[in-house]
Amino acid sequence: SYPSRVKLVDVGPRDGLQNEKQTVPAAVKIELVHRLQNAGLREIEVTSFVSPKWVPQMADNSEVMAGITRQPGVRYSVLTPNLRGFEAALASRPDEIVVFAAASEAFSQRNINCSIAESIERFAPVVEAARAAGIYVRGAMSCTVGCPYEGEIAPERVGYLAGLMKGIGVQHVGVADTIGVGTPLKVQRAIEATLAHFAMDDISGHFHDTYGQALANTLAALSMGVWQYDTSVAGLGGCPYAKGATGNVATEDVVYLLHGMGIDTGIDLDALIDAGQYISDFLGRPTQSRVAKALLAK
Ligand code: HMG
Ligand code: MG
Repeated sequence: SYPSRVKLVDVGPRDGLQNEKQTVPAAVKIELVHRLQNAGLREIEVTSFVSPKWVPQMADNSEVMAGITRQPGVRYSVLTPNLRGFEAALASRPDEIVVFAAASEAFSQRNINCSIAESIERFAPVVEAARAAGIYVRGAMSCTVGCPYEGEIAPERVGYLAGLMKGIGVQHVGVADTIGVGTPLKVQRAIEATLAHFAMDDISGHFHDTYGQALANTLAALSMGVWQYDTSVAGLGGCPYAKGATGNVATEDVVYLLHGMGIDTGIDLDALIDAGQYISDFLGRPTQSRVAKALLAK
């Protein structure tokens, strides 16, 4: 049976915009966050405190966090790759931080310039400091079904990474299909491997839609009982260290799927589509959400 309620984390402002070539002013990012929370999103991944040389688009992290008018009941999360990023993030009072590692060695090297083991060593003090400060810690596990450099990734490697994350005190993990190559049974195996270390309530799905499989993968995860997903408004995005990768599955499309199944999200689809239209207009591109396209054409 399917969960009766699902929580969506909109990662559009971070995962969606991090790879954007044109400058997106902080004011536009802030307005996007406001529109998302007004549409009913209860968690928003706002930005990342990574090296601005590596990801220039996120260089305005503190300014964006400071500019948000926070709504009670909404959680604001940020990515932190190391202690330096965590310390910078702390001043912005995030509700949650995200440390990110890969199930693939090659991707770990390209994305964060170190091995998986080194990344875990680097995260350990970050997790400790965050938990001491009362900040919730989520872990993102990249390339859990496939890697742009290594090809297919075995579930054992996902289980290994999940175990390492658990070992350093990460409270929740996202099972990410970074390059969208996953299909339902493979995604289910990655989730099963994660379930050896984390409870169902502490696992989310993070599916990029590069091969058009993300909704099918979401349904497959739902059928296992996964009730938390990262999605991106208007399907924005792509990872700078995964060539050709497109955005996360569009939040609008997942909301339509869930509401059609009678699953509650607390999200107002029309207001969400407006938020997607706002950022798509700014970027000068059509939305990647099929549902938004269909409803806007009516
Ligand atoms: P490095 O070059 O190995 O580290 O980068 P370093 O310690 O030698 O530092 C290099 C320079 O960056 C130094 O500056 C540091 O001060 C600075 P310089 O001395 O050359 O002027 N620096 C920082 N500046 C600001 N904030 C910081 C910071 N740390 C160092 N926190 C590092 C290592 C991890 C920093 C780098 O590789 C990096 O920032 N990578 C960013 C990777 C990234 O953001 N990727 C995208 C997000 S992950 C993702 O999208 C996947 C996900 O969505 C799930 C999925 O779909 O798979 C989450
Ligand atoms: Mg991602």
